[in-house]
Parts: sequence; C-alpha cells; structure tokens
Amino acid sequence: MQIIPSILAATKEEFVGKVTEIFSDTEMIQIDIMDGKFVQNTTWGTPDEILELHLPVLFEVHLMVENPEEVVGDWVRVGAHRIIFHIEATKNPGLVIEKIRPFGREVGIAINPETPIAALSEWLHLIDYVLVMGVTPGASGQKFQSKVLAKIREIKKIRPGLKVGVDGGVNFDTAKEIAAAGADAINAASAIFEYPDPEEAIKILQGS
Ligand code: DX5
Repeated sequence: MQIIPSILAATKEEFVGKVTEIFSDTEMIQIDIMDGKFVQNTTWGTPDEILELHLPVLFEVHLMVENPEEVVGDWVRVGAHRIIFHIEATKNPGLVIEKIRPFGREVGIAINPETPIAALSEWLHLIDYVLVMGVTPGASGQKFQSKVLAKIREIKKIRPGLKVGVDGGVNFDTAKEIAAAGADAINAASAIFEYPDPEEAIKILQGS
C-alpha cells in the first residue's frame, strides 16, 4: 500500500515546513486545497504559488472546492501528477474529466462518507483513481468512519483494476483495516506530522 502524506497548510511557511520534513521519504505528496465554500476551511497555495516552490517530489491535488471544472486546467498546467475532485462539488463530472485526461494526468474522484458508490457509476470507466473519504472533509485529526471500508470492496468488485485510496482518519490502527480491505494507497496528515518522527511514522504506516 502506498503512503501519501497530505499537506494541509494555512500558510506558505507551514506548507514548506511540512514538505521539507518528509519529501525524501515518499514518492508523492498530496496537496489539500480548500476553498472555504465546499468546506469551511481555506488553505494556502494557488497553482502558481505551488509552481514557484519547484517541489522536489511528485504531487497530487485533492480539490475540496466547488466547481472544480474552473480550476483543474491550472493544476494541469503546473504539473500535478494526479488531480482529484469531489463528485459532490460539480454538476458536470464529465467536463472535469475532459479537462484533465487529454493532458496525460491521472484523474481521481473523491467521495464523501455519506455519498454512495452508485454516484460514481457513470464515471468509473473514465478515471484512474477513487479517493474514499474516511471523514467528512474539512479538517485534519477526525475519527475514521469504518463504514467506508465496504466502499473499497465495492469499487474493487465493479472495477478490479481501478486504484483506490483512502483519506481522513488514517492512523496506525485504521491503516491495517484499510489495507485488509484492499486499498492501494492511503493519505495521512496528523498520523505523520503529529508523530514525533514523521519519517518513522511513514515507515510504520508502510508496514500496515
Ligand atoms: C480531510 C482532508 C484530509 C486530511 C487528513 O479534510 O481531506 O486530507 O488532511 O487528515 P488526517 O490524516 O489528520 O485525518
């Protein structure tokens, strides 16, 4: 199972500090983007601000924003390896996919704990990744909702080759349950950055 540290930062200093702590221990980071509308919080980092950092590691973006069709083109332009938008945030998922796919970037759709997998059925054959949310998005450090484990199995049954990640509430214990349910990747923020040694936390998660 791949471990992808989530960078959720309110300021540039926080963002750079977190990336500096872990970039040499991971293949890819996830940048959390919050717009204050789809979720209450906001985060630091426009596409151009991220571009200026010349990040030393691959990155994906988890767009917790309304109308992602308006911004995905910018994330393609600045080199996001994978772009993940929320099925709940757009009236036109097909348009969002069309704005990412031709450019050779991976397309992911995130799904909130309350949203059924049926909401994705029309799109599963057009995407590379499903991000199953283990918490209602908006904040780090929430408790994992075990009911979402069934979604991992459900997706793998419908499309065995589709990669599934899990985000929110991942810790050393829940990571084991998520791995057992068949996920390909997990995102973790507090389990890594609130552990005394983030590099060791990544290793422990990798052993799940
Ligand atoms: C949830 C965010 C997550 C968050 C995870 O709102 O989408 O990416 O950073 O934080 P933890 O790992 O602390 O639950």
